[in-house]
Amino acid sequence: MADTITLIDDRTGKTVTVAINDGVFNSSALRELDPDLRMYDPAFLSTAACSSSITYLDGEAGILRYRGYPIEQLAEKSTFLEVAYLLLNGELPTADELDEWAFDVTHHTFIHENMRKRFVDGFHYDAHPMGMFVSSVAALGTFYPDAKDIFNKQSLDRQTLRLIAKVPTLAAMAYRFSMGLPFVYPDNSLSYSENFLNMMFKVGDDYKVDPVLARAMDLLFILHADHEQNCGTTAMRVVASSQSDPYSAAAGAASALYGPLHGGANEAVLHMLREIGTLENVPAFVQSVKDGNGKLMGFGHRVYKNYDPRATIIKKAAYEVFEVTGKNPLLDIALKLEQTAVEDEYFISRKLYPNVDFYSGLIYEALGFPAEMFTVLFAIPRTVGWLTHYAELLSDKEQKISRPRQRYTGASERNYTKIEAR
Ligand code: CMC
Repeated sequence: MADTITLIDDRTGKTVTVAINDGVFNSSALRELDPDLRMYDPAFLSTAACSSSITYLDGEAGILRYRGYPIEQLAEKSTFLEVAYLLLNGELPTADELDEWAFDVTHHTFIHENMRKRFVDGFHYDAHPMGMFVSSVAALGTFYPDAKDIFNKQSLDRQTLRLIAKVPTLAAMAYRFSMGLPFVYPDNSLSYSENFLNMMFKVGDDYKVDPVLARAMDLLFILHADHEQNCGTTAMRVVASSQSDPYSAAAGAASALYGPLHGGANEAVLHMLREIGTLENVPAFVQSVKDGNGKLMGFGHRVYKNYDPRATIIKKAAYEVFEVTGKNPLLDIALKLEQTAVEDEYFISRKLYPNVDFYSGLIYEALGFPAEMFTVLFAIPRTVGWLTHYAELLSDKEQKISRPRQRYTGASERNYTKIEAR
């Protein structure tokens, strides 16, 4: 059978036949039928807005691969910086390439003193760390006038390096500010994840990063590094399509991530588990969700109609972290909630399973992070994905400025009335 689709405009009898490649047909064929005809696809449920060679996702089968490598293998064998290199460059690095990349990232972790003294110190004392993160990513770009030189590869690579190196510093700074703690400068002798934990939690000279916890942090960073065309990455691409600099685009992407339906879900899960409070309350809570009172946070996904493979890996890692930190008391409630939901017809029929955010908050809390930091922990590694998509978009000759059309449903033409006559 031919891999084509034939569209018929019943109003005119015109037809157009168009090729289907990789499950996608080019909707510009519609314009051959009628230049004014549009497809109505709110929230892009049926729209492929780009070609991409970065991340592969099969939601029915629960498969996630970065540049072809299964997430399970990367989670077990790789490090976050190696995965970052893989995403950005398309191939795993050689030992020398990895050394050079890790050295470069490590030596770009400092930020201008004015960022801390003037910018961050200006926030209100109870500013949400994610709000601080969003705005400080945008502000960071103002320190680098060359950031606008986006079609100069050397310059773009420099901004990419700066952003990846500095987002943990910005994140830790937001946390220390909100706690009223003195800022801890980056330590170039530590790995990416160790350095982040050190900047977060060091108080006095005795603090030593536990290697098991640093590995858990690194693993969580690997799992969050990219996830194809999600809401934040789409925001990154839309902003980038107007040729904004990567800092401004990343701030836009981080803003999208902030929402509770996206990266804000991990924080919402923790609040939900606390609200449930005891195992006995689980069935009533699930019933109230089924009755339409809110959602089961950390459940469901636009693409996964099966277990989110990241959730499976995180759940396993949680036990390793709890060996060091002691069990998070909310774990039992989460397990009971999962079990109740996955056996319930409401969730089965809608193919709702735990997503990446369901268990990540439990580890984050065990590592010592307050719930307000959870989305920031998602944003740090996702910066790599955003920048990879940014570069891919700029080099894609088929892309133009994003500019969807609308179905107008407002008033037809009418005359202005004077204020006294209204
Ligand atoms: N709890 C209860 N019901 C749900 C949930 C949930 N978590 N998610 C979806 N449903 C129901 C929804 O009400 C709808 O029911 P009906 O057909 O009766 O109207 C049906 O399932 C289909 O849901 P949808 O809203 O059409 O699905 P979507 O693809 O638009 O939304 C989602 C995906 C992730 C926004 C949604 O599942 C959700 O809000 N989940 C909770 C928030 C969450 O955990 N977000 C993190 C997503 S994973 C990480 C990331 O990408 O950031």
